[in-house]
Amino acid sequence: MAVDLLLGLQWGDEGKGKIVDVLTSNYNIIARFQGGPNAGHTLEFDGIKHVLHTIPSGIFHENAINIVGNGVVIDPVIFKKELDNLKKFDLDFKKKLIISRKAHLILPTHRLLDAASETAKGKAKIGSTLKGIGPTYMDKTGRNGIRVGDLELDNWQEKYRALADKHESMIDFYNVQMDYDLAELERDFFEAVEVLKELTFIDSEEYLYQAQKNGNTILAEGAQGSLLDIDFGTYPYVTSSNTTAAGACTGLGVAPTQIGEVFGIFKAYTTRVGSGPFPTELFDNYGETMGKVGNEFGATTGRPRRCGWLDLVALKYAVRINGATQLMMMKGDVLSGFDKLKVCTAYQYKGETIEHLPYNIEAENVTPVYTEMKGWKEDLTKMTDASQFPKELNDYIAFLEEELEVPIKIVSVGPDRTQTIHR
Ligand code: GDP
Ligand code: IMO
Ligand code: MG
Repeated sequence: MAVDLLLGLQWGDEGKGKIVDVLTSNYNIIARFQGGPNAGHTLEFDGIKHVLHTIPSGIFHENAINIVGNGVVIDPVIFKKELDNLKKFDLDFKKKLIISRKAHLILPTHRLLDAASETAKGKAKIGSTLKGIGPTYMDKTGRNGIRVGDLELDNWQEKYRALADKHESMIDFYNVQMDYDLAELERDFFEAVEVLKELTFIDSEEYLYQAQKNGNTILAEGAQGSLLDIDFGTYPYVTSSNTTAAGACTGLGVAPTQIGEVFGIFKAYTTRVGSGPFPTELFDNYGETMGKVGNEFGATTGRPRRCGWLDLVALKYAVRINGATQLMMMKGDVLSGFDKLKVCTAYQYKGETIEHLPYNIEAENVTPVYTEMKGWKEDLTKMTDASQFPKELNDYIAFLEEELEVPIKIVSVGPDRTQTIHR
């Protein structure tokens, strides 16, 4: 059996959580492969909204096993809070939620270092979620990290102390004003580690290999989006992991030859939270309406998301890098009532018109070239079948499919599980 992937094609928050939840009924296993609690994945069903950060979005399905893969970084404190929030659902976590021994831990001092680094950068800050993601991946690649499997060893606290002490001197090096009580942060951390230790730790690459061999279906859940990828995103305004398809291989130990479908998910417009270039960003009523109607506030930090027209130059790039085989278009309902819609199909770049994503996409280098289309008036949120779609929406979808050369198989018309239309 192949492993299917679901990935964000923009700057995150495309609606991955919702679609993973919808697709989980087709899979035995859902596995997160990168990122950490910088992610906020929203699911809605039965009138309740859930936001997950580290726990995979298949957790509410009775028979699905949820795996936190080796490529993920885990903050035990946030993880414990997530578990606490789910207590009322009476889920059997010991059985349903299993964690790779090779996943790295976010320490309290990683969070402090993230904050110190951002403060020191001043205006050039990344706009990090301040969850300690960058410093934790730095320790991973620097070969200093503490992994989940270390918690099963007797001496892990010594390793912890040495690393936390080193972090403290690094914080001093930044020479910025930081108020914190490390003893208190550590109390919370060690308490949360004990809760984490109650879960099942596994060698997830071996588990997934055997699961596949025994005919289980697996869906890998991405976090963030392709334009936040550490290699292919808008560096340095990116996250610290490979959010693209290849990240699923390294983040789960699945061979490239085992990958089946690659589901690429995008919003019918574009959003971005945090700093960094965004060629189609809007500062007018259209952008404001997208933000308001789309309720565009970060699921992790509550920050307002920047909004703009769909950028096909960037989307094509993401489709290619991931090898997307099917697309899902989210939040078309938010655009209902727009008199016109614009889609960026090329950039003016250094006096030339180009259709690929160049090295620098800052506003001073790039001016978007737009194709204008007619908007639709109809409310999409109660529609249950693609045959009910207005002509203008069908035209929009057909135009995107022609440009992207990949079929749009799902159109989402609202946040609820049921507001999902298969084509
Ligand atoms: P993720 O990080 O990719 O899982 O996405 P987020 O959960 O951060 O952000 C997506 C937001 O859009 C959430 O508030 C969802 O409930 C909401 N959402 C998802 N799909 C739709 C849709 O089709 N229409 C509307 N209006 N909201 C949606
Ligand atoms: P999901 O999985 C949107 C952004 C931050 C910042 C940059 C680096 O919900 O789509 P980091 O905390 O990783 O150091 O932040 O990346 N970012 C996200 N933006 N959705 C996310 O996750 C994000 N995770 C990180 O805003 O610009
Ligand atoms: Mg999100």
